[in-house]
Amino acid sequence: MSRIVFATGNAGKMREVRMILEDLGLEVVSMKEAGITIDIEEDGATYEENALIKARAVAACTEDIVLADDSGLEIDRLNGEPGVFSARYLGEDTSYSIKNANLIGRLEGVPEEERTARFVCAIAAVLPGGQELTTRAAIEGRIGYEEKGEGGFGYDPIFYVPELRKTTAELTGEEKNLVSHRGKALQLMKEELRSYEGIDCQ
Ligand code: IMP
Repeated sequence: MSRIVFATGNAGKMREVRMILEDLGLEVVSMKEAGITIDIEEDGATYEENALIKARAVAACTEDIVLADDSGLEIDRLNGEPGVFSARYLGEDTSYSIKNANLIGRLEGVPEEERTARFVCAIAAVLPGGQELTTRAAIEGRIGYEEKGEGGFGYDPIFYVPELRKTTAELTGEEKNLVSHRGKALQLMKEELRSYEGIDCQ
């Protein structure tokens, strides 16, 4: 039976991904669980390029289906920053309380209607036959004035979704997956995988 290796070392992402892919009926494992411990340099210019770089690097180590994502937060007032550099913004090892406080500080005095932002996610797949697929989705929101919520990870506590009147950190895992960039991009990828002959999924 085919298995999916998801190319991330981020535990928060892995939790979300497992929940979304569950109904494919395939085992979903992280790189670490698959015993793959390579360092991958994400030097692409777009989310799709970075997702493909990760998926190809892991696919070189396994016969399984490989999925990878690349995602980021784009703040309109900051010309799309931090964008593809979201994980590296202010340094990879800097805590998100510092990153979030910094972004809120950079938006000081900016009124609510100009605090628009989106999370974007591209998913790449490399199939055992070498075929490559990508999907992309986004969720629109606004940058809040303070951190709110304990769920999610990363920039979730400052990403406010007006329709839900909550930040994505105030949503349960299930609620976030229904509306999030990653949830929607993975749903699109699931449809692509289901249409592929030779992949034995539900
Ligand atoms: P990646 O691991 O290279 O895709 O890095 C994406 C970065 O964007 C993450 O480390 C977070 O900083 C941010 N990000 C992406 N998706 C989310 C999300 O769902 N919530 C909060 N932050 C996110």
